[in-house]
Amino acid sequence: MALTAISLLCFAALLPFPGLGERDDHSGDLKQMYIKVTVINKFANMDVSYPTSLSKGTPMFGVLNHLQDTNKNFNFTYSINKSYGIFLESVNGVAGSTVSNTYWELLSKKGNNINRPNVGIGCYQPEKNENVIMNFTTWG
Ligand SMILES: *[C@@H]1O[C@H](CO)[C@@H](O)[C@H](O)[C@H]1NC(C)=O
Ligand SMILES: *[C@@H]1O[C@H](CO)[C@@H](O)[C@H](O)[C@H]1NC(C)=O
Ligand SMILES: *[C@@H]1O[C@H](CO)[C@@H](O)[C@H](O)[C@H]1NC(C)=O
Repeated sequence: MALTAISLLCFAALLPFPGLGERDDHSGDLKQMYIKVTVINKFANMDVSYPTSLSKGTPMFGVLNHLQDTNKNFNFTYSINKSYGIFLESVNGVAGSTVSNTYWELLSKKGNNINRPNVGIGCYQPEKNENVIMNFTTWG
């Protein structure tokens, strides 16, 4: 069930018309939501938060672009994998590496609970008041 819902979300996010987000009943404008993105790299003692507001339903990829466009202290790079979609490569100049087994992990914090979404930045849609954490970590 989860997988089907996720595929549909990803598909909806690619539709070429701006009918996605929830609209305000009165004005018809897209509803805004507050979220916070936190970049953590414990190897470099980095722990920075970027609060922002943007349209409800915006996928993480859009959130990151919005941050990059509005905040000169945030940047990221990505690549497109033909099978799996958008792959996050670097945040604030720090890139994951298959040599040192490092990558940027996407985590979702709601209250005190931290979860690992099972989709990437192309599909993941944070909810209002969510704290999305980009954690530089290792595997293997
Ligand atoms: C896409 O990702 C998969 C899994 O990591 C990898 O095996 C494949 O080579 C990648 N494809 C491209 C075109 O980078
Ligand atoms: C991205 O951010 C890092 C850290 O602030 C900075 O060193 C780097 O120059 C930035 N890169 C670009 C392309 O702005
Ligand atoms: C973030 O990554 C560091 C380094 O691998 C790890 O020690 C820490 O547990 C991770 N944080 C979370 C919330 O998973």
